[in-house]
Amino acid sequence: MNAKTMTVAGIMSGTSADGVDVAVVRIAPGKTRPKLTLLAHEGFAFPAALRRAVLAAMNAASTSTAELARLNWRLGIAYAEAVTATIKRHEVKLDLIGCHGQTLYHQPRPAAYAGRRFNCTWQAGEAQVIAAAIGIPVVSNFRPADMLAGGQGAPLVPLLDYALFADAKRGRVLQNIGGIANLTAIPAAAAPDRVIAFDSGPGNMVVDALALELFSKPFDRNGAFAAQGAVLAPVLTAALRNPYFQLKPPRTAGREQFGREYAAKFIAACQRHSKKPEDALATATALTAETIARSYKQFVLAKMKAGQSGVDYIVSGGGARNHTLMAMLAQRLKPLGCELAASVDFGLPVEAKEAAAFALLAWQTWHRLPGNVPAATGAARPVILGQVTYA
Ligand SMILES: Nc1ncnc2c1ncn2[C@@H]1O[C@H](COP(=O)(O)OP(=O)(O)O)[C@@H](O)[C@H]1O
Ligand SMILES: [Mg+2]
Repeated sequence: MNAKTMTVAGIMSGTSADGVDVAVVRIAPGKTRPKLTLLAHEGFAFPAALRRAVLAAMNAASTSTAELARLNWRLGIAYAEAVTATIKRHEVKLDLIGCHGQTLYHQPRPAAYAGRRFNCTWQAGEAQVIAAAIGIPVVSNFRPADMLAGGQGAPLVPLLDYALFADAKRGRVLQNIGGIANLTAIPAAAAPDRVIAFDSGPGNMVVDALALELFSKPFDRNGAFAAQGAVLAPVLTAALRNPYFQLKPPRTAGREQFGREYAAKFIAACQRHSKKPEDALATATALTAETIARSYKQFVLAKMKAGQSGVDYIVSGGGARNHTLMAMLAQRLKPLGCELAASVDFGLPVEAKEAAAFALLAWQTWHRLPGNVPAATGAARPVILGQVTYA
């Protein structure tokens, strides 16, 4: 199939369960990589009842089949409404939609179940609901194909990172800070098989949980609470001993590692050292910054060195709006030779990047082109991702 220029909407809702981001991207075939132009992007907070339902399903030890079926459908409605509002506001005409869906369960490593061992994943959000509402095809369910090719099904954003940011002279690190923090590192002049990508650990997830528990706020706006606290060094040191941080990439994390249970223990540990809730927020923020910087130092730094003029460390995701976190990051990354920036400095608003990635992945699938970067997911080969729901 000859690749076509298309206008594609990408829909992303991440582990923060804060809402839906939509990016509308014009995608044209290019000589070595597709060319992307961002036409529009919008963010839509989940209504409180939906956010509660999503968080409950993610954290549940048990739930009901009816609950999950309804949630799957309800998310489809939320995605359809988000796209409808975006195309209305910006008067764009879409050719295709790519929907990541809401990860309710992600198990990258094989485990025994009903007599067989396998890994598995589930992103909810009924694609048919979206296709019916908008009247154009929807690509969804991107992760299983990569997992069946031996990968972890994540991260899938590296294809976009490479297409937009790979540079002949500069090393580039694309650091997304959503609920989980993940990075894509692209050495200067590197081919896609030299891309390094993995989850460093918690992004906003622990900070958000503490903000809710200690301040009844969904997140620490601009990092204001953390800015008034002091990092509790013994708590941070103990937290850094978590075995997740010793795992070699490829590695992925989620609420399974850093969800509600983790946050409850973290709060208890902080309260043994300080009565001031701001100190707990500062410590959780430092955990994110420290594990990002350590991940870079341990697994990336040595591979970035050759033949480059420097490294741009480009942050996206809601965490880029947390000033305290960004200051802590700058302080740790500067000595490692990185210049901290936000994706918006490179023309891509911080909320739009992941959504744009799923627009590109949908475009790839539509043309029967692979979407995974095997160096990033650990897959044995590039594969076509997901499935198409025709309107
Ligand atoms: N102004 C802000 N100040 C601090 N943190 C923010 C701000 N805006 C968003 N965030 C953080 O970003 C999170 C959402 O980021 P996002 O990139 O959408 O993550 P995900 O992909 O996991 O949904 C929020 O839960 C919050 O922690
Ligand atoms: Mg989000």
